[in-house]
Amino acid sequence: MIHAENAALCVVVLAAGQGKRMVSSRPKVLHSLGGKPMLAHVLVTAQSLDASDVLVVHGHGGAQVWDACGAGDRVRWVEQAQQLGTGHALAQALPHIDPSATVLVLYGDVPLIRSQTLKPLLDAAGAGHLGLLTVELPDPRGYGRIIRDTGGKIQRIVEERDADPAQCQINESNTGIMAVKAEPLSRWLGRIGNDNDQGEFYLTDVVAMAVADGVPVVPIMVQDQSEVLGVNDRLQLAKLERALQRRHAESLMRHGVTVIDPERLDVRGQVVAGRDCVIDVNVVFEGRVELADRVVIGPNCVIRDSRIGADSQIFANCVLEGATVADHCQVGPFARLRPDADLRSHAKAGNFVEIKKAVVGEASKVNHLSYIGDARIGSGVNVGAGTITCNYDGANKHLTVIGDDAFIGSNTALVAPVTVGEGSTVGAGSTICGDVQPEALAVTRAPQRTIPNWRRPTKKR
Ligand code: UD1
Ligand code: CA
Repeated sequence: MIHAENAALCVVVLAAGQGKRMVSSRPKVLHSLGGKPMLAHVLVTAQSLDASDVLVVHGHGGAQVWDACGAGDRVRWVEQAQQLGTGHALAQALPHIDPSATVLVLYGDVPLIRSQTLKPLLDAAGAGHLGLLTVELPDPRGYGRIIRDTGGKIQRIVEERDADPAQCQINESNTGIMAVKAEPLSRWLGRIGNDNDQGEFYLTDVVAMAVADGVPVVPIMVQDQSEVLGVNDRLQLAKLERALQRRHAESLMRHGVTVIDPERLDVRGQVVAGRDCVIDVNVVFEGRVELADRVVIGPNCVIRDSRIGADSQIFANCVLEGATVADHCQVGPFARLRPDADLRSHAKAGNFVEIKKAVVGEASKVNHLSYIGDARIGSGVNVGAGTITCNYDGANKHLTVIGDDAFIGSNTALVAPVTVGEGSTVGAGSTICGDVQPEALAVTRAPQRTIPNWRRPTKKR
């Protein structure tokens, strides 16, 4: 939503760098973090600031980047054909920026920045100052350093490659993230030179220009370092992945969820959880997952785009996708719920059970080694071990309907389309091709032959 007071905020995301150290044919900003491209994280943050405009400066792999992230509205794409430096990159965006706007510079490979960290920068820029996000790093290698005068006022930024040994000792570092009005910014960008070790046009040079023009430089020091860590290689990507996952785990714990080991939880999407849920180790959540109160998720489960009702338990090693599980259900261990599996209150799906596009009614049980696909099972039904719905005839899928309180004996094949009536019984080992009347017994078992004194073959020597 665009709010009037922020109508003139333009966020520019620099994302044209090639990312050689990723050793990848994919553009760096498309590498995945928490299940989505790094750049997508930055775009979400940008949009959460109610920016009127988000510009992405892209270069290498532009079309690919566009395809992966371009769907979002209010994002405009600017090409930087040659990567001549961060100052040059921002200059490419300038013609597209309203001169009265506030400009916030973010980076496609610094994905964990939080919007609340950026707000003071915007306030500084709004007051006509240059807001500069800085960070105190114990090991600032590779970062530009903040140079202050003897009075402690910021003078300029010096890139490490251009720094003298004394400057290299400074821990206060440049995150690269800054906010300032477009009007002085365009003036300064026009004056940036490339007389430095890399022969690049450095955005950081605008700091000294602001000082020279009497524009106050307001440093905002970031508290949580992970917010400003960049990704240059896959080692750093993995480190940021853990930082992001830590955030997810902490947020769940703050909302009343017990996370058995925060280091062994992966959220690749969004989890909404009620109170007193317990999540055991090595659980992966993907897409949007909703857990009601007191849900227990056992170890090694993968749960995607699913809803689980209050007091339900998902035992170890289950895979759920697009499933709805009501309250007081038990699933697993080793169960697979596929799209449109719909377990009603107090239902059970036990070990080595696969359920797809099927309702399992209230208090019904499918406890062992079954495939239930394209089915409507009523309430209070017992489906014996090894029961299969034969839903596919090689061309089309057909429906199996089982009425309330039916009892399906073990190892039954239900050849759909077929209806098994309420309260009926199917004998174990049956192949049910025709409808079963309510309260009836259907059994297709071949008569048993017993041959007395049977001699087993003996081994020839
Ligand atoms: C930059 C800062 C440095 C800061 C560091 C923080 C400059 C000159 N230096 O250095 O002070 O400590 O970030 O991480 O700004 N990019 C383009 N086009 C270009 C060059 C870069 O779009 O021509 C993009 C990159 O894709 C990247 C970002 O700008 O997202 C930063 O560029 P990078 O070359 O990584 O700058 P650093 O050397 O890390
Ligand atoms: Ca960098």
